[in-house]
Amino acid sequence: MEKSSGKKNTAVLISGRGSNLRSLIKYSKTKKSFIRIVLVVSDNFSAKGLDYANKSNINNIVIKYSNRKSFEDRLFKILRRNNVDLICLAGFMRILSGKFIKKLNKTILNIHPSLLPKYKGLNTHDRAIQNKDKYSGATVHIVNDKLDSGKIILQKKIKILKSDTRKSLEKKVLKIEHRIYPKAVIKLLSSD
Ligand code: GAR
Repeated sequence: MEKSSGKKNTAVLISGRGSNLRSLIKYSKTKKSFIRIVLVVSDNFSAKGLDYANKSNINNIVIKYSNRKSFEDRLFKILRRNNVDLICLAGFMRILSGKFIKKLNKTILNIHPSLLPKYKGLNTHDRAIQNKDKYSGATVHIVNDKLDSGKIILQKKIKILKSDTRKSLEKKVLKIEHRIYPKAVIKLLSSD
């Protein structure tokens, strides 16, 4: 990605609540932001996060997920049409195929609620508590063709207390997610 070309046209992909989308929108509105969010894509019509896009007048679209091929074909076209340079997955609960990632040939970031490489996939907080881990955290990484396995851009850990439940841990981790996603974007784009 060329830094000289100014702000990166960014698409954020969501499936639900959209609190990480909200933090990225907030960052994008700061003076020194490296990104301009030009598009929000959801695979879910009732994703609450779409409200944040609408409130900020960001172009948004729902692509129904009937199968991976048709979803990715539509996604590819719409990302191209909007000249998207950077894709941020923010609570997007689908797996993109290696074929799609290669064909698109753009940087795709993801935020994951664990200290990767620990606990790829789902139910990260339950697994951390069950295993009596002392720490949990969140990770922003590059998306590649293997689940939650691409290069780590930024990671932050927090202590798990004996009193923590899945819900309390989720809340604490989410709070740091909101902080590290914009920071990871800055780190990625300032090193161009
Ligand atoms: C976040 O905790 C995010 O890390 C997680 O879903 C939540 C979405 O919250 N993502 C994954 O588990 C991806 N595998 P949000 O919709 O409020 O941003």
